[in-house]
Amino acid sequence: MEIHRYEKIWLAGALLLIVGFIATVSYGAVGAGIAMVDDEGGQIDPNAVEEHPKFGEPGTYADGPNEYDVYVVAYQFGFEPGTQEPIRVPAGSEVTFHVTSRDVVHGFEVVGTNANTMVIPGQISTITVQFEEGSEDKYGLLCNEYCGSAHHAMEGRIEVVPQSQWNESMEVN
Ligand code: CUA
Repeated sequence: MEIHRYEKIWLAGALLLIVGFIATVSYGAVGAGIAMVDDEGGQIDPNAVEEHPKFGEPGTYADGPNEYDVYVVAYQFGFEPGTQEPIRVPAGSEVTFHVTSRDVVHGFEVVGTNANTMVIPGQISTITVQFEEGSEDKYGLLCNEYCGSAHHAMEGRIEVVPQSQWNESMEVN
């Protein structure tokens, strides 16, 4: 069977498109570090968040050399800590955010980075972020899941404190 030259080019092009689409979809699904909120972070009773040993007193907890855990409660319409007072983390550290909601679904995005998670009542979302020494010292926080009438105003701040200025009074213990 004779296949015309142009027919072959079209076939090759169409095949390339299909392979390309599959590649981008696969990359988007698994390659970019994107994952569903799952049970990894644990579960919590959304009506008794304040009874949790860490979420009851949310904030920054030391967890080994240069490793910190930050517990954050999202609510309509803010983050605790984050909105009333900034989340403080020391520079040059690895920080794992544990975020939950006490009312509806929210988002937790560190603006300008790829750190971003959905926050679901009953679930604890965890994301780990490396804050380099000498990196930006302030980051914004945003909710990017529609959560009610003041969704657009739900925001917060992270302050990266230089190691030399970090002291234990900035931690919850
Ligand atoms: Cu919280 Cu939108």
